[in-house]
Amino acid sequence: MRISIVTLFPALYEPFLRTSLIERAVAAGHVSFSVENLFSYTAAKERIDSPTFGHGAGMLIKPEIIEKAIAKKESEWGPAFKIFFSPQGKKLDQGLLTTLSKKFLKDGKGAGIVQANGSDQIAANDSHSPAEDDAKRHAVQHIMLLPARYEGMDARVEQEYADLLVSIGDYVLMGGDLPAMVFIEGLLRLIPGVVGKAESVEEESFSGPFVDYPEFTAPIEWKGHTVPKVIRSGNHKEIARWRRDQAAQNTVVHHFSWLREHVIKKEDKELAARFIPPHYAILMHDQVMLEGGREGTSSVTSLDIHDIARSARTYGLKKYFIVTPLLDQQKIIRKLLEFWHTSVGIDYNPQRHIALQLVVLVSSLDEALAAIESEQGKQPVMMATSAKSYDSEKSLGYHDQEAVWCLQRPVVVIFGTARGLAQSVIDRCDFLLGPVEGFSDFNHLSVRSAAAIIFDRWLGINPRD
Ligand SMILES: C[S@@+](CC[C@H](N)C(=O)[O-])C[C@H]1O[C@@H](n2cnc3c(N)ncnc32)[C@H](O)[C@@H]1O
Repeated sequence: MRISIVTLFPALYEPFLRTSLIERAVAAGHVSFSVENLFSYTAAKERIDSPTFGHGAGMLIKPEIIEKAIAKKESEWGPAFKIFFSPQGKKLDQGLLTTLSKKFLKDGKGAGIVQANGSDQIAANDSHSPAEDDAKRHAVQHIMLLPARYEGMDARVEQEYADLLVSIGDYVLMGGDLPAMVFIEGLLRLIPGVVGKAESVEEESFSGPFVDYPEFTAPIEWKGHTVPKVIRSGNHKEIARWRRDQAAQNTVVHHFSWLREHVIKKEDKELAARFIPPHYAILMHDQVMLEGGREGTSSVTSLDIHDIARSARTYGLKKYFIVTPLLDQQKIIRKLLEFWHTSVGIDYNPQRHIALQLVVLVSSLDEALAAIESEQGKQPVMMATSAKSYDSEKSLGYHDQEAVWCLQRPVVVIFGTARGLAQSVIDRCDFLLGPVEGFSDFNHLSVRSAAAIIFDRWLGINPRD
């Protein structure tokens, strides 16, 4: 593999390319580098940068300097796959690195990116027709990295040349050289032979839906911490099981955003589900706000019973409590549940029966909380929902699962009816989930719609690919 780097600071790459695995990869012929100094493309006393048009004090590298650098290197090493670096680029992750490494290995065969023993020559005997020879001459023959400095590149340069614009994260560095080095390390690890064992790169964090499992070395006892017995047992099956469970638990609690974007296989979903704390829903028809600002009770709606039950079942909730102290309202709910919990309902629509089995009628919030505690042996973490946003230490966003799940307690999501939950309920809750909003000024969802959206935002799978 051949990589050219076009930079204002070539000195940064000297120790980097001469250290450890990268030095060895070069020596073994897996990769060859060329580092070009952008200053060598300026005329005597010519500035390399110039001010941006419009307001603002920023400077940009002049486009024609980049143009000259690219032309020179491509005349020597052939057409390049050009990668620019910018915080606005495509986020670098293991998936992108894997895709690129496969692409470069495939495209590189006979076209020049991948050269045995670092040779710069295109193998002449690989193609058979003039058309193939021509295609090969124009095929990408090396990777060119173009880290910027100052305010970045003139937008037209990226437009004209960039095959890929890469960001290494949502923060701004002083220049693209560290991102280029991050890219080089990430990519080279995936080139066969660069890192010792193939399994070392295949089983690591972010190669699949789960992060890596914890690892230990000697001594067995260190500062009062002991290497888990199972790891020392020699029982390969048990060790594999322990590692898989640790990886899944760690991913669920600390990297749920990654997991929900990358879990695809049924067995991985089932494994992850074992480590999501048990969730419950409560729909309050008591202690809710009424018109005129009073606290009181509200009437049940059969649609809310059905639809929230179906959503709760979809997102793996354990139970869905409906709270009403009003006897006539309880009668209506009981009648409906009797139908769906017995043979008539089961035969009529078995799927609906499965969903409505989650529904439990109770007279008060305390009764629901006590039922959860008796089922789980721990008090649930209470999360209130509201259409209003509160400026409170208890406020949570929909990426904050870790803050709740690391408490290792069951979780209950509490929904209000009428004008929303009364302050007396909100005050009791441990957390307050933010309102569900779109890019409009209308904020009047039905509770069943809000519940479905909240379950999805908090617990849903949302694959990237
Ligand atoms: C000061 S930054 C320019 C930031 C740019 N004005 C913006 O806000 O998007 C200068 C250069 O550093 C590099 N850089 C800084 N942060 C980066 C990141 N997170 N990922 C990739 N490159 C980055 C890019 O090459 C960028 O053009």
